[in-house]
Amino acid sequence: MTSGVGAPDRAKIAARTLRTDRWWLPPLLTNLGLLAFVVYATIRSFMGKWYWAAEYGYLTPFYSPCLSDSCLPGSSHFGTPLPELPGWIPLGFIALPFLLGFRLTCYYYRKAYYRSVWQSPPACAVAEPHGGYSGETRLPLVVQNAHRYFFYVALVVSVVNTYDAVVAFTHGLGLGNFILLGNVILLWAYTLSCHSCRHIAGGRLKHFSKHPVRYRAWTLISKLNVRHMQLAWTTLGTLVLTDLYVMLVASDAISDLRFF
Ligand code: FES
Repeated sequence: MTSGVGAPDRAKIAARTLRTDRWWLPPLLTNLGLLAFVVYATIRSFMGKWYWAAEYGYLTPFYSPCLSDSCLPGSSHFGTPLPELPGWIPLGFIALPFLLGFRLTCYYYRKAYYRSVWQSPPACAVAEPHGGYSGETRLPLVVQNAHRYFFYVALVVSVVNTYDAVVAFTHGLGLGNFILLGNVILLWAYTLSCHSCRHIAGGRLKHFSKHPVRYRAWTLISKLNVRHMQLAWTTLGTLVLTDLYVMLVASDAISDLRFF
């Protein structure tokens, strides 16, 4: 290794780290958390059933928007411009790649998986296993620079999810309505707290005083932005919770708690 901790001008320390605390715990927990979500989301996306509780109008965000003739009657809030799909294509395939791209290129998730999965480095004062460093200048990591474009698509998907949640209220009121609503509120908070969003609102300005509206938006987004990590994890949880609830209701495993 000729760069990083192996560079000629660095102290020669044979041990990977001299830390004696449990520095490996945060990367391990991050790996387990991300893995659990990826496994759950992949299984549910390819399951192809129990995504629409017709009686109550609950549509899971993993299948929204559902735009093909394969979608269950009533679940296509934006029509079915696409023909029947083979079973190996997830019904939410329009939005899923963009949402995946949005999360994968998110500044917070980058930090999380660069440290945990890529181990670059896994923790402060712990040598990384890689011999070279090219940053985000080459494929595949150069794609990280497309984050702002994924952000624009994520905005549209948030509008779609909001529409789904609002439409569900036309079927009455049950616990699922609050779960769908809570999920979209947190999704909006996560999306608007995005670093790209903050830059779009207030970046590249020489004088905030000449742009009071953008300054106000930047100020509000900045307040959300400091919670971006918490929102990133919370929304993974609420996405799973929302999907799980819709699945259990749609499969008749549980009954929706109805208020009227
Ligand atoms: Fe995390 Fe944009 S920085 S979503």
